[in-house]
Order: sequence, then structure tokens, then C-alpha cells
Amino acid sequence: MIVILDFGSQFTRLIARRFRELHAFSVILPGNASLEEINKLEPHGIVLSGGPSSVYDAGAPRPADGVLEMPLPILGICYGMNYLAQHLGGTVEASPVREYGKSILTNYSGQLFEGIAGEVVAWMSHGDTVKNLPAELTVTCATSDTPIAGFEDYKTERYGIQFHPEVVHTPQGIKLLENFLSICQAPRDWRAETIIEDLIADIRAKVGADRVLLAVSGGVDSSTLALLLAKAIGDQLTAVFVDHGLLRLNERDEVEKALRPLGDLRVVDARDQFLEALAGVAEPEAKRKIVGREFIRVFEAQARDLAADGVKWLAQGTLYPDVIESAGGTGAANIKSHHNVGGLPDDLEFKLLEPFRLLFKDEVREVAKLLGLPEAIRMRHPFPGPGLSIRVLGEVTPEKVDILQRVDAIFIQALREYGLYDGVSQALAVLTPVQSVGVMGDFRTYSYLVALRAVTTSDFMTADWARLPLEFLEVVAQRIVNSVPEVNRVVYDITSKPPATIEWE
Ligand code: XMP
Repeated sequence: MIVILDFGSQFTRLIARRFRELHAFSVILPGNASLEEINKLEPHGIVLSGGPSSVYDAGAPRPADGVLEMPLPILGICYGMNYLAQHLGGTVEASPVREYGKSILTNYSGQLFEGIAGEVVAWMSHGDTVKNLPAELTVTCATSDTPIAGFEDYKTERYGIQFHPEVVHTPQGIKLLENFLSICQAPRDWRAETIIEDLIADIRAKVGADRVLLAVSGGVDSSTLALLLAKAIGDQLTAVFVDHGLLRLNERDEVEKALRPLGDLRVVDARDQFLEALAGVAEPEAKRKIVGREFIRVFEAQARDLAADGVKWLAQGTLYPDVIESAGGTGAANIKSHHNVGGLPDDLEFKLLEPFRLLFKDEVREVAKLLGLPEAIRMRHPFPGPGLSIRVLGEVTPEKVDILQRVDAIFIQALREYGLYDGVSQALAVLTPVQSVGVMGDFRTYSYLVALRAVTTSDFMTADWARLPLEFLEVVAQRIVNSVPEVNRVVYDITSKPPATIEWE
């Protein structure tokens, strides 16, 4: 596997994803992970990620002692390159021109660029630059503003690149990462078949004869997990679906219908419990934590009800990006604490079983396909665990949830009707606390503003806004204001992620 040491770049996880797309397993560790921790994983190579710091700052993050001396190929990206260059005897300075965005590489050569030809567009995001290198390091590329945009020493297998090969804006970056895998002689055996075998063996070893409770949401992750667990531990599994009152219109019935054939399923009506707990709370992180806490309370009650001696395990479809975004063990900034990770209460009565903790969404979809999950569930847009509570901005009330459910249903139904649903990765409506003046049938209205959002993305870590046809948006807006009287204005969100996120809270 490849170990990626994270120095805080928002793109670090993309590096891991790209390696996995190339069928090489890869994990992210904090930048200062100890030599012992890294050695335990027996990596074939190490990547030093980018990051917001400058290597010459006091307290700049650095790899632990001995890591850069490991007899393995090491690739430094951006901050990682600067750190490696400085460590090997080079100098790094603030550059007069901050390079941000697309650049063209000139004079590229060396092992990392093998098989790459023609114009190479490279995505840059740096304010520092390598000024001098010791003689044993060869410069491998430049740009018009950066004379040393890459280096290598093939004898000691040390490589540096100032640009980001992991982002789509560096189209040949994937080839470059593949070349690094070849240099590392990393096995390329990370495939859905082997993932399933490994997960099943792992689950059986962990769980033994214990009972497992699984939270299903009807989304692809937890449904796939239901299939996987049914295969691994059969009737030791009970799946629980909680109606927290923050679902989409008719969702409870749909999920029940779809999941009933998957095995032992309990549907719990906990609408009052969640809405009461959320009453008066406006702050997004607080709402997420409340929903997470109430979820666990419901499961604890279910577990007590199920078996006198209790249920030891709670299974969750937590994915790698959730783990990373909740800063679960990496240096990445905490953007949002996803309720199924950051919001767990301290007095948890369960041991957590999270078999997908190291998987990306597309990997789960591949697993789902092999396990035979129906297409309708497999290709469903994701829906956040806290549900509509984070789409009703500010305080959540039953009335507001009801308004949003009707708006959302119109939008999603229209997307399907116009054949646009499968072309976007996620679509949602947001009820804002903003009220604005309108006019309807000669009367003044003073009603809510809703926002529609649709995005395209392959990994949900970066996303672009979907270019839905204007005629379509017009129809949807009309239908919403005509049939939801509490709403008199509809806007469409045209921000990408970053700088925005997909959800508004
Ligand atoms: P953001 O808003 O972070 O969303 O760009 C990325 C993806 O994650 C979903 N999301 C969540 N899922 N619990 C979840 O289970 C959460 O708290 C949560 N917040 C966001 C979001 O719908 C999108 O698919």
C-alpha cells in the first residue's frame, strides 16, 4: 500500500482516491505519524501531501524523525515537495508571484513523466517555491513562473512536484501517479471482489457469535452493508430503519418496500422524539450532534428490546470521506462533523462496526453491484443522515419540514420526469429563513425563499453545480410557487464545492 502523510491540504483524500482508482490500496495518516505506525503498515511508498503552511515557518508541520530516511520511494507534492527539498539541502522561499490555477509545464523529463507527451497542464496552488537544489537532485519540470516545479533523485527514489497531480485539472496527473506506483512496485490488486472477501473475513473475526444491529437509511451505503452483513453473519443481524421525521416525502414507505426483502427489518417511528430534541436549536453543528445522539438512543432502546443480554455491535455505513472530514485521525480541518462520526455520544453502549470506514463511495457502489443490490437503490442520490434538519436552515419546526418536503418532492419528481435525475449526482432543496415580498393574484405575499441545488461530482469531495436547462428550472420554480403557498421565491445555487459545500449547513 501507499501511505499518504497529510499536511492539511484539502486535496489529500483525492490522492488516496486516485491510487485506489489505479487499484492500489492507500491510506492517509497524520503528517507527523510515527515511524513505528508507518512501518506497521508495510508501505511500498510514501507521499507527502500539500498543505497551507510554509516550510520555513516556526512550527511548520513535519514528518516524524526517520521517516524521510526510510528506504522507500517518497513523493512530495506542493508543501511536501518543498519540505523534502529543504530536508535534502535545498532552499525554499516565498515566490514573488503566487501561482494559482492552471500552468503549462516546460522541459519535463524523468521517471515520473515516463509515457507522458505533448502539452502538460498542471494545477498549481502555491506561494512558496524551491530556489536551489543540491547537485544530486535533478530538476524535472518548470513553468513560466517557477523554474523548479519538480525534481527527482532516482538513485534514492526521492521525487517532488510543485503542482497537484490528484486534481482533475491536471489531466495527465493520473499517469504520473501510476508511474509513482510502478516506481514503488506497489501491488495493483485493490478490486471489489477482494474487498468483499476481506470485509467478510474481517466482520466474522470481529463479531464472532454476537448480535449486530444495523442502522439502515435506505441509501446505498447502509443497504449495501445490510447485504454484506447478511452474507457474513446471517441471522445475527437485525436492521433498523428510523423515521426521524426528517425524511423526504413518502420515503418511509419506499424504503420499507425496498429493504423488506433484504432480511430482518424493523421500522421505528421516532418523529416526535427527534423534533422535540431539535426544538429551539439553530446552530448546524448542534443539530447534527442532536440527530446523532437521538439515533443512538433509539438504537439502544431497540437493542434492549431485542435481546435481554443486549446487542454488542452497532453497524454503520460510515465512509472514508466522513472519517476524513470529521478529522478522524488526519490533519484536515474539521469542515462538518458528519453525524455518524462526530456526533456520537461519549456514553455509547455499543461497539461500532464500520466495515466501509476505509472505502470511498464509488467503491461501495462496486461492492453493491457485485452483491446484487437493486439498481434503484444503488443509483439513488445520497441523502444525509441528519436528513432535512440540515436543509431547513436555522431552527427546525414540523411546519418547516412539511414545507420543504413538498418543495423537494416537486424538484426530484421533475428531475425524473425530464430524464435529468441520473445525470446529476445529488439534488436537493433548501428552506431558508429568508422571507421576501411577492405578489400573487393582486395580493401582496411575504413568504419563504427556497433554494434548489443540483451538483455533479464523482466523489462528493469536490463538486460542480449542474447546468440544468433554464426551461426546466422555470417549470420547477413555477410548480413550487403554485403548489406550495408558503413559498414565493425560488433561487438556483450556482456555487461549486469548494468554496461552498453541497449541503447548506
Ligand atoms: P457536503 O455538504 O459536506 O456534503 O459537501 C457532502 C456529501 O455528504 C452528505 N452529508 C452528510 N451525510 N451526515 C451524512 O450522513 C451528515 O451529517 C452529512 N452532511 C453532508 C451530503 O448530502 C453530500 O452527499
